[in-house]
Amino acid sequence: MSYRIAPRRVSFDWQETPLHWIPDEPTATHVINVLHLLLPAGERWFVKVFKEALPLVRDEELLKDVKGFMGQEATHSVQHAYVLHHLAEQNLDTGPFIQHVAFLFDVLLGEKPPFGMPLTEREWLRFRLSLIAAIEQFTAVLGDWVLRAEDLDRAEPDPVMLDLLRWHGAEEVEHRSVAFDMYEHCGGDGTARYARRLLGMAVTAPVLFYLWGWGTRYLVRHDPVLAGRLRYSLREHNKAVAKGLLPSWRELGRAVPRYCRRSYHPSQEGSLRRAVDYLATSPAARTAAGALGRAALS
Ligand SMILES: [Fe+2]
Ligand SMILES: [Fe+2]
Repeated sequence: MSYRIAPRRVSFDWQETPLHWIPDEPTATHVINVLHLLLPAGERWFVKVFKEALPLVRDEELLKDVKGFMGQEATHSVQHAYVLHHLAEQNLDTGPFIQHVAFLFDVLLGEKPPFGMPLTEREWLRFRLSLIAAIEQFTAVLGDWVLRAEDLDRAEPDPVMLDLLRWHGAEEVEHRSVAFDMYEHCGGDGTARYARRLLGMAVTAPVLFYLWGWGTRYLVRHDPVLAGRLRYSLREHNKAVAKGLLPSWRELGRAVPRYCRRSYHPSQEGSLRRAVDYLATSPAARTAAGALGRAALS
């Protein structure tokens, strides 16, 4: 039986969420907060690129999955954008950083290749689909990590933020194969398709690594509570990893060679069972399901 992917119309109330939503752990808080910097523009871009590619889809099942994926990613993008408003209300202005992110997705990775690069429309679209498939490898790994991160529970984080991360993480595990299948479907044949998949990862992994470091440094530097008393460093990062508040480098690093195997398929990334179990208990997902049920009855 095929698994149905569909968005959940969640909402979150940020009123009570403190700036350091993992108490006394500003480094871990801001490393995770980089998600809010990258995802609103990034996931909006996924939806745009997929819209461009929809006419190429010749498989009904894939088309259903892709539409479910687009609905989920659009919802993620909007919900993370609300967190940016909340950060601004707490005097952490992310505007200047967001402009760089918007330039990356809207200009450098827009509908036309940048700098007049001599690529056909088809080739440029395939390249961007390969980037999305590679990014989704990491979102699946991170999604599964956040669902398993019991040390994060023990650190007593803000429950609303934890629910946002786990609801999102669970949906990333739910749709872990869709971007890969979309790339494989639209990406041409044989060795060229495989080579472009590798290229997608070769570009994505270092760029994500760089953006994450840059974003964390930005947030730590502009945090009004820290007021310059902390610097983001590898040492501080690794301390948070040792406490189980961030995923290990090893776990993240291993996702790359796994993805580069020719026979790879993401259907075994993470645990769909764990994801579905979380979504059954997530306060935001349950409220959304209840609202849907009430709307159907009225
Ligand atoms: Fe997402
Ligand atoms: Fe995703």
